[in-house]
Amino acid sequence: MSYEAILVETQGKVGLIRLNRPKALNALNDQLMTELGDALKAFDADEAIGCIVLTGSEKAFAAGADIGAMANYSYMDAFKGDYITRNWEEIRRIRKPVIAAVAGFALGGGCELAMMCDFIIAADNAKFGQPEIKLGVIPGAGGTQRLPRAISKSKAMDMCLTARMMDAVEAERAGLVSRVVPLDQLMAEALTAATVIANMSLPAIMMIKESVNLAYESTLTEGVHFERRLFHSTFATEDQKEGMQAFLEKRPAVFKNL
Ligand code: CAA
Repeated sequence: MSYEAILVETQGKVGLIRLNRPKALNALNDQLMTELGDALKAFDADEAIGCIVLTGSEKAFAAGADIGAMANYSYMDAFKGDYITRNWEEIRRIRKPVIAAVAGFALGGGCELAMMCDFIIAADNAKFGQPEIKLGVIPGAGGTQRLPRAISKSKAMDMCLTARMMDAVEAERAGLVSRVVPLDQLMAEALTAATVIANMSLPAIMMIKESVNLAYESTLTEGVHFERRLFHSTFATEDQKEGMQAFLEKRPAVFKNL
């Protein structure tokens, strides 16, 4: 498949997607989000891929939804046409892990897109923010919902109401990102993490993703019950036999994703 607004490549078992509208700091328009959804679904369906990395440029992961594209929308364009965030939740249907490798600006929809990924590795120049209020609107792709879950109500309110940016150090301290690395090591760090994951048992990877995500949607009792059932089901996999046997034989496991 050929894309214009993103670049797609594979590195071993890792699928790499790079947002590629450099002149607009990777502002997220309908074309880019459609292509992103298509590329994510293609990697999800590809047996050779175990993990996906989503990144932008050194200057911007993404500076938000494309303001030029929506500036003249009427309420009916936004509501009935749903052009702005029509297909943004596609990423949530992806069953393999998606790591966001964030350098530079991750603002508005860019911050929201990063938060839709399974975890965020940030370069030390990363800046996160929800500045929609400065445009007279509010976050429209989950910012008011995912930020409080990720970093607490107080910080989420602060960011959404004042539009201030959070640097990488604060983002890590707040729990928004899992690691911060120097900019020149960002892609190596993200690809190494993705390769580590991709060499695990794919059924276990997918079950962990499903189970951790359920923690946001369920009570603790329901979540623990779901996890227990998935855990039990791993004993029906060949990979469980291989993983435990390899440990006992003091050798690395070789998983078949079965
Ligand atoms: N949409 C469209 N174009 C954008 C953009 C956006 N979100 N962000 C940046 N650009 C464009 C600029 O218009 C500029 O284009 P030109 O060169 O043609 O003028 C180019 O990218 C470079 O931007 P700047 O010259 O502004 O670069 P800077 O380094 O001075 O500032 C910045 C960088 C602080 C990120 C600034 O560009 C900025 O504030 N961008 C807007 C951020 C924003 O408000 N995001 C929220 C969007 S709304 C949203 O996302 C809704 C939602 O929840 C779904």
